[in-house]
This record gives sequence, structure tokens and C-alpha cells, in this order.
Amino acid sequence: MVSVIILAAGEGKRMRSKTPKVLHPLLGKPMLAYGIEATNPLNPAERIVVVNPTVHEAVSKWDPETPFTLAIQDPPRGTADAVKCGLSALSDSSENVLILPGDVPMISPDTLKELVDNHEATGATLTILGAEMADPFGYGRIVTEEEDSVIRIVEERDASPEEKAIRLVNTGFMIVKTKALRDALNKIGTNNAQGEFYLTDLAAIFHEKGLKVRVRTCEDPAETAGVNDRRQLWEVQRRLLNRLIQRWQSEGVTFTNPETVYMEPSVSIGRDTVIEPGVYLQGKTEIGEDCRIGQGAVIENSVLRENVIIKPYSVIEQSTIDAGASIGPFAHLRPESEIGREAKVGNFVEVKKSRLAPGVKASHLTYLGDTTIGENTNIGAGTITCNYDGKRKHPTTIGKDVFVGSNTALVAPVTVGDGSTIAAGSVITKKIPPDTLAVGRARQQNIYRHKRRKKEK
Ligand code: UD1
Ligand code: CA
Repeated sequence: MVSVIILAAGEGKRMRSKTPKVLHPLLGKPMLAYGIEATNPLNPAERIVVVNPTVHEAVSKWDPETPFTLAIQDPPRGTADAVKCGLSALSDSSENVLILPGDVPMISPDTLKELVDNHEATGATLTILGAEMADPFGYGRIVTEEEDSVIRIVEERDASPEEKAIRLVNTGFMIVKTKALRDALNKIGTNNAQGEFYLTDLAAIFHEKGLKVRVRTCEDPAETAGVNDRRQLWEVQRRLLNRLIQRWQSEGVTFTNPETVYMEPSVSIGRDTVIEPGVYLQGKTEIGEDCRIGQGAVIENSVLRENVIIKPYSVIEQSTIDAGASIGPFAHLRPESEIGREAKVGNFVEVKKSRLAPGVKASHLTYLGDTTIGENTNIGAGTITCNYDGKRKHPTTIGKDVFVGSNTALVAPVTVGDGSTIAAGSVITKKIPPDTLAVGRARQQNIYRHKRRKKEK
């Protein structure tokens, strides 16, 4: 049995941010969540996340799929001090503790499993996950004798030039016998360049006692890339994003310019759908087969069925679009909009909390808010539902096969019966029965033989 301690209490100074480092999002999910989730297949006896008060406040509001216990480290005085805090929150008596840094999000569950199995098989007191880095700058270097026997770990700032040349680095992941860990933590001091309690001192302490300290090298160094600044944050996100896009390519999705697309792991895309450049897909978004998502579209928490066309630069939030419908260019669907089959929402049309039945067309320059529209109704250019009286929102109900002339204002609450026609430029304030022509505008007057006054000089 193994317990897990995740270190997430550091200040993350190198991020230069008001937000604690481990809460910075990667593809829409906080960095810290990646490490926590990677421990799932281990079925740990207990999972402790060591946080500072700011992280604590944010994390205690999470509704995570994986349960964990929070321990507070205040102030953060180094990684060894953090583990001490974690240990004091640990209630079970697992033989080993797996320690994870909270800022190394690409670690795979398989690598962790491998580390645990290997540690248990060799009977070592401490097994460190190492990695061969082409550029080891910033990482602790692992000083070994023989092949995988560790003498000590030395931090970048404390390393001699010869030690700096070592490319085998400490990834921050390690598994250690609980009892030996408790004893050794008290022997760690702060005699180093940063004046902090370094967890990495464990290696030398055990080695000097003649206990077995081993390094297990991670095959894919990309997995163990730490995030300390914004450049590394971007690099890790780019890798995660590439991996995600490649997965959808293998599922039959075309990306015409994948380098410019952003999407999150919670998004799904159907076969033969084409994603154009600069598209942003977020949250719980489901896109059907044979859709086309135009350049610069932003879609979040929405469902698109098959054959939907989103023309460029449209923004779609928390809405549902049925098969064959077409949206945009430059359209905005705000939350709770439902667009029916083959319906059309065109240029500069804004829809909010409205239901458009199949075949409805609102092709140009329109605002539809709190509105229901029946089948095959045509909404003319410049139609506005006046749903707000300065105090409350009111509904507009338009029947099927209605023709709303251009530049109509519908003052809600108001109802338009099936088959009716509204003359262009009308201001509709009263209910319109079915099959009725409503004209709600000033009648045109012609004043004959009229001459404009000459301009004065
Ligand atoms: C640490 C290791 C280094 C390793 C690197 C791998 C030490 C002393 N150094 O360096 O050998 O190569 O990780 O990524 O351990 N944290 C706390 N409380 C603290 C300090 C840090 O919880 O008081 C947490 C941080 O939030 C972070 C993790 O521990 O998640 C690592 O801390 P960080 O300051 O990033 O250590 P590095 O300098 O990267
Ligand atoms: Ca780090």
C-alpha cells in the first residue's frame, strides 16, 4: 500500500502572478489537478495535497472527481517542510509514501505505477524518478556511484561546475519508506543557497546511513518537465494540445491549420468535421459529424449535431444547434439558445435564451432575446426583440410561418400568431392573431411640388 503527498504550497515566484502557480490552467484545468489525477490508478490509501492558505481557499471549492485531503503549510519553507506538513496530516500507516511535485503536470500514471512497483521490488529506502535532460538547467542534479545508486542530489544554485554538467536530474517524484522518512526529515537543515528545507537532502542522509537510495530513469523526459515560469507553462500546454489534436486527427477530424487551434480535453468532435484556423473549443462541447467550424469561432459548453456550419468569427456559449443549421459569420449565441434543424442565424445576429424551431431564418442584424419562434418563420433584417423594460425581462412568442418585416421592434411581452405578416418598420406592442397583417408604423405622407430651400451663401 502506498500513500501520496502532493506538494503545492510553493509561492511560484517565477510566475510573477497574483494567482498561485499550481492553479494556473492548462487546457482549462488547473495544473495541480493533472498530478492528482495521475495517481488514480494507484488507488492510494490516502492522498494529501500540501497547500498554502491562498491555494487552500481556491482548492477547497473544487468538486474533484478524485478525493484528497488538504494540509496547510504556512509559510512555505521548502519542500522538506512541505512533506513534514503532509506527513502530519497522514492518518494511515502505509509502508511507503509517494511524493509528487504539484508543478509537473505531464507525468503519466504508467510512469508512477512503474516507479512504485520498482521501489517495492528492490526494497530500496528511497527511489527517485530521474530524467536525462538535454538542458538540465534549474533542476537538482543526481550524483550517482555505480549505475543507479545515488549519493546525493545537489540543487542548481548549490552545484559546482562539474555537478552542473550532470544531465541526470531529479524530477521531483520520489517514493520513500514512511518510517525512514519521518526520522530523516528532522535531520534536514537550511544550510543552502536558498535557506530552505530541501527534500532532496534525503538522498545524502540515507546514503550516509548505508540505506539504499536508487534512481529510476523516466523514459520520456517530456513527462517530467516542470513548470516554474510562463514560458514553461506555455511549452507544457503546447505539448498537451498537440497530443490532443493528434488524437482527434486520428479519429477522423481535419484541422486546416492545427497550430492555431485551441481546444480542451473535455471537447469531442465527430468524423469528417473540419476545424478551420484560430478556432477555440472549450468546456463540455460536443461537435457532431460533417460539421465545419469557421475561422476564429469560439465555442464553449455547447452541443452541435451533424452537418452544422459555423461561419467565421462566431461566438457560441452554452447553446444547442441541431443538424444542418448554419450560424454566422459574426453571430453570437448566448447561453440557453436552441437552434433547430436547418435553421439559419446570419451576420451580426445575437440570440439569447431563445428557441428557434427548424427552418427559422434570422439572416441579418438582429437581436432575439427570451424568444420562441415557430417553424419556417422568417425574421427580417434589423428585427429587435425589446425584452427589457429597464427592470425585468419579458418573453416574445412568434408562431410558425410568420414573416417579420425588416426593422421591426417587438415590445415584449408580445405574441405573434401563426402565418401572420408584420410590415417593415413596425413597432409591435399588441398581440397579433394568426393569419393577420400587422402594420405598426406611421403612414407615409407625400407633400407634392416641394422644393428644398436653397443653401445660404
Ligand atoms: C524541485 C527540486 C529539484 C527538482 C525540481 C523538479 C527541491 C529542493 N528541489 O526544485 O531538485 O529538480 O523540483 O521539478 O525539492 N513546494 C511546497 N512548499 C514549499 C516549497 C515548494 O509545497 O515550501 C512545492 C511547490 O508548490 C512545487 C514543488 O513543491 O509544486 C516544487 O517546488 P519548486 O519551488 O518548484 O522547486 P524547484 O526549484 O523546481
Ligand atoms: Ca518546480
